[in-house]
Amino acid sequence: MTQQFAGKVALVTGGGSGIGRAISERYASEGAHVIIAGRREAVLKEVADANDNISYIVADVTNSDDVAKIADTIKNEFDGKLDILVNNAGWAPVTPLKQLTLADYDKAFALDVRALIDVTIQTLPYILNAKGTIINLSTVGAQHRGPNMSMYLGAKAAVENFTRVWAFELADDGIRVNAIAPGAIATNIWNLSDLSPEEAKKHMDGIVNTIPLKFVGEGEDIANAAAYLASDQARYMTGAIMAVDGGLGAS
Ligand SMILES: NC(=O)c1ccc[n+]([C@@H]2O[C@H](COP(=O)([O-])OP(=O)(O)OC[C@H]3O[C@@H](n4cnc5c(N)ncnc54)[C@H](OP(=O)(O)O)[C@@H]3O)[C@@H](O)[C@H]2O)c1
Repeated sequence: MTQQFAGKVALVTGGGSGIGRAISERYASEGAHVIIAGRREAVLKEVADANDNISYIVADVTNSDDVAKIADTIKNEFDGKLDILVNNAGWAPVTPLKQLTLADYDKAFALDVRALIDVTIQTLPYILNAKGTIINLSTVGAQHRGPNMSMYLGAKAAVENFTRVWAFELADDGIRVNAIAPGAIATNIWNLSDLSPEEAKKHMDGIVNTIPLKFVGEGEDIANAAAYLASDQARYMTGAIMAVDGGLGAS
């Protein structure tokens, strides 16, 4: 691995598992110090204990005080500089419209949208200090739909437009803002939905059949994109939504 991120500080929300963990370990392997944040200390600790370049903060990013704790750590322990923010924490509720309640909307948007905005706002002074970059996690479904996932896909569609507008707003500051839109990636997110195991399997089988490359991706596939977007090789990319989806979005 190159050490292209040596001396840089990255924050990855939800960096204790799945895609966030793969991104965190990739940045760390290329020299960055990576702060991972999530609610489950045991999960975060396991990742950080195995890697000298990773430290953790227990934080529920839907709680503004917890987000302030993350921002204060960057201010006090990392010279007030954040080179790479990856807004990765998210979840994918699957609920048919006929069963939806407003509580489902509140829960989905609290994490997938509101928390992403809060983390960005509270860390922005430090991103500006470092002339850093922001990467948001969207999903292929934000543009290509998916039944029974309206809260999730509506929230991620909002994330994509925040990405584009923020890219415009921050271009003069030298800050690039991009999003990655994964297709189906093998992580626990599929087990955390409200579906029964049988319904979840049916849901996943239905998705795999529609993927042109006919397989589910790995966290590493998204980490490759996140490494590229955070690097100087992507210096001419901002406001982009990068699909990493086995062709799903092309179908
Ligand atoms: N896997 C896919 O197929 C796929 C496809 C498209 C997009 N994505 C997107 O990729 C991102 C990562 O998903 P994943 O598949 O890696 O799922 P995952 O393994 O379930 O990871 C989600 C992470 O978010 C953290 N998180 C959840 N709620 C949080 C909260 N309130 N505060 C802080 N952290 C929180 C979780 O940690 P704690 O539980 O410890 O808090 C966990 O580490 C999400 O934004 C997701 O929408 C995934």
